[in-house]
Amino acid sequence: MNTPIRRSLIAAALLASAVLTPLVATSKSITLPPDGVQLKPSSLPGYALAQANCVACHSAEYMLYQPPTAPRPYWDAMVKRMKAVFKAPLIDADMPAIVEYLAKTYGNEQP
Ligand code: HEC
Repeated sequence: MNTPIRRSLIAAALLASAVLTPLVATSKSITLPPDGVQLKPSSLPGYALAQANCVACHSAEYMLYQPPTAPRPYWDAMVKRMKAVFKAPLIDADMPAIVEYLAKTYGNEQP
C-alpha cells in the first residue's frame, strides 16, 4: 500500500502545512485599517479617472466634505490645485472629465 507516490504525496502535504502554518499564524496578527470612504459610483467617465487619480493620497472623504453647493469652477480649481500644489500626477486631458464627475456627484450639479 505504501507506494513511493503515496509517500511523496504525504511528504508534500506535510511540507505544505509546515510552510503554510506560520503564514496563517502571522496573518491573524495583522490588523488592517478600516476601509476609507469610497468615491460615489457614477456612469460618468470621470468616475474611473477619479478612482485612478484622486484617492491615492487621501480617501474620498475629502470630496464628501466639500460643500454640495460648490459650482463647477470650484471643482476645477480644486483639481488644478491638486496637480500644481500637491503634484498629483494628473494628465491635463483627463481633468475636464474629472471636474464634470465631481460637480455632478459632489457639487451643485447633483441630480
Ligand atoms: C499627490 C497626492 C494627491 C492626489 C493625487 C490628490 N490629492 Fe487631494 N489633497 C492632497 C493633499 C496633500 C491635500 C491636503 C490635505 C490636508 O490639507 O490635510 C488634499 C486635499 C484635498 C481636498 C480637501 C480640500 C482641500 O482643499 O484641502 C479635496 C476635496 C481633494 N484633495 C480632492 C482631490 C481630487 C478631486 C483629486 C483628483 C483630481 C485629488 N485630490 C488628488 C493630495 C492629493
